[in-house]
Amino acid sequence: MPDKNNMEMRKEAEELMRQLTLDEKIGMIHGAELFRTAPVERLGIPALTMSDGPMGVRQEFEPASWKSVGNHDDYVTYLPCNSALAATWNRELARLTGEVLGAEARGRGKDVILGPGVNIKRSPLCGRNFEYFSEDPFLTKEMAVPYIQGVQKWDVAACVKHFAANNQETQRLWVDVKIDEKALREIYLPAFYDAVKKGDSYTIMGAYNKIYGEHCCESDFLLNQILRKEWGYEGVVISDWGGVHDTAKAANSELDIEMSVTDHFDEYYMAEPLKKLVEEGKISEKVIDEKVIRILMLMKRLHMLNGERKSGAYNTPKHRQAALDVARESVVLLKNSKGRLPLSPENTKEILVIGENADLMHALGGGSAEIKALYEITPLMGIKMLLGGNAKVTYVKGYCQDPREEDKDRNWQADSLENGGGEVECVNQADEALTLYRRLLREEAVMKAKKFDQVIFIGGLNHEQDCEGNDRADMKLPYEQDQLIEELLEANPDTVVVMAGGSPVEMGRWIDRADSVIWSWYAGMEGGRALAEVLFGRTNPSGKLPESFYKTHTDCSAHAWGNFAEKETADYAEGVFVGYRYLESYHVEPEFCFGHGLSYTSFEYESAELIKEDGRAYVECQIANTGKMDGKETVQIYLGPKEQKEGEPVRQLKGFEKVLLKSGEKKRLRIGIEDYSENRNVWVGSSLKDLRMCTGRKG
Ligand code: BGC
Repeated sequence: MPDKNNMEMRKEAEELMRQLTLDEKIGMIHGAELFRTAPVERLGIPALTMSDGPMGVRQEFEPASWKSVGNHDDYVTYLPCNSALAATWNRELARLTGEVLGAEARGRGKDVILGPGVNIKRSPLCGRNFEYFSEDPFLTKEMAVPYIQGVQKWDVAACVKHFAANNQETQRLWVDVKIDEKALREIYLPAFYDAVKKGDSYTIMGAYNKIYGEHCCESDFLLNQILRKEWGYEGVVISDWGGVHDTAKAANSELDIEMSVTDHFDEYYMAEPLKKLVEEGKISEKVIDEKVIRILMLMKRLHMLNGERKSGAYNTPKHRQAALDVARESVVLLKNSKGRLPLSPENTKEILVIGENADLMHALGGGSAEIKALYEITPLMGIKMLLGGNAKVTYVKGYCQDPREEDKDRNWQADSLENGGGEVECVNQADEALTLYRRLLREEAVMKAKKFDQVIFIGGLNHEQDCEGNDRADMKLPYEQDQLIEELLEANPDTVVVMAGGSPVEMGRWIDRADSVIWSWYAGMEGGRALAEVLFGRTNPSGKLPESFYKTHTDCSAHAWGNFAEKETADYAEGVFVGYRYLESYHVEPEFCFGHGLSYTSFEYESAELIKEDGRAYVECQIANTGKMDGKETVQIYLGPKEQKEGEPVRQLKGFEKVLLKSGEKKRLRIGIEDYSENRNVWVGSSLKDLRMCTGRKG
């Protein structure tokens, strides 16, 4: 926000604000519908219209109930989830995703899109992890900033969420986060800081949880001290839906708009109750004026009051292409120990595909991130589309979720805040009938697997586990999949294993016997096509894990040191040792490390040099593609203290760059490093466990 413009904008907003009555002002600072504030028609001030993201623009709801309007005009481009996007490690794809989301939001007539979510994946069990980017603050912010800029190009505001330390769903409305300020500032706040400072996010959403005993949406510490005073934020702060609990506290904090899930709009804390406090002289009207000024400034930035506003568009072929581009780069090749992948499409005459996730659509699940996708290409469809009619593709389910779960109430958000708003979901309970049914599915699949040369299993999680309001109890695969995979590998050791999901799963029971393993995510409408392209070598995989894949959840510091999914207090005793920072420093081996992801080609790191120029540090390195296929490599830079100090992780990601190299090609790259100092080592590598050089030295 350039200063001069800001000052002028503020002056104009102040003038407009002075013409408003108290009632009109109050109407602008709370929800008058579930996703909209009240307009002031006599002065030409429109309502502020919001919609959920981040995987696309959500369906239309009735103004005062969580019933879908039910028309067919709100099907949209379904984008890969933020975890998938982060796995691309490609800032330009983050920008493109933002641009698609912004254009579609505008195309659907929205002013604010409620995303991206930039909360840190503190535990692999958090049900909303699929909406978030990473366990690492640097990767998160590097993806979030271009994303936000992309959205806002379209005269739509991004709403970076959920501010802050919103890392579990259990009792999400009441849990009090106990965290030391160093960890808060080094791990949980940087993405928000960059989102507002560099990304210029016009709005930000407060979180449900408490921090230091105060609800985030009314927190003096977070909103007044940090966001406004320290960071000088001039944008609009919006509450999470139902995140406000006290009129005076909310009004006196720097919260600007209160939203909630009920239809008693006049009873919202910042509605009639606030008006009463103003009339009684207990709260100065000036407090409200300031909020209104910021909302009017936002409207000006979005050209809602003046100038020409971009119209956007949704469901364009370009948007679908973007969804495919992101999906392609998000697929992570975890293992290919016998080089069995890619499969040859020409030699595939018969293939067996097993697993419910091969044929399951995920778009309309997960909570507020649900999407009415224009279409969703499942893995099975993607495989069939790629192979064509001359190959015989046989499909069996092999496992299934509880069919009775499938008709879950789609109107869940109406009572989503009851009982504290979230709980731990135990999915691995099955009655006799379901157990028997699963056994029959398994036997059928195993019998068939013996007869086929080529077998692909596609399983993992779905939005029963990766879902708002849920945390998982553990990392175990649901629906008896472990047993199925073990038996499949026994029946046919060449079985390719594909896992889909938003968070890692335990693989210990079978990973040593599986030679080819792929991780894909909720990868949007083109996800199945992208996966098939990787399986059959049309796309060389280049995804890298944006988070540690633990062997089991107790290897994660939030469980080993701190606590997680507790009802009253979440104790972040692990401090800054989150994710790989803990694993590396305390020698705990993950199943697959942060930054891991294989390719069908090979990359040689030929040289790496530390350069200091104009007060900034860079690594200049030369990388060669020494394999037979064109491919993309993500060069990762980690910093760590030369002499180990207590409280400082041994390595932290501080730079990366993704580069396309043709087979046989070499490129020199210059990669900026954040937080460099003389007493830190610089490692350059292909993943956290595949470091190729340390400040010039090999190794
Ligand atoms: C979620 C937000 C979402 C809002 C509106 C809340 O339950 O926490 O992320 O934007 O609902 O649907």
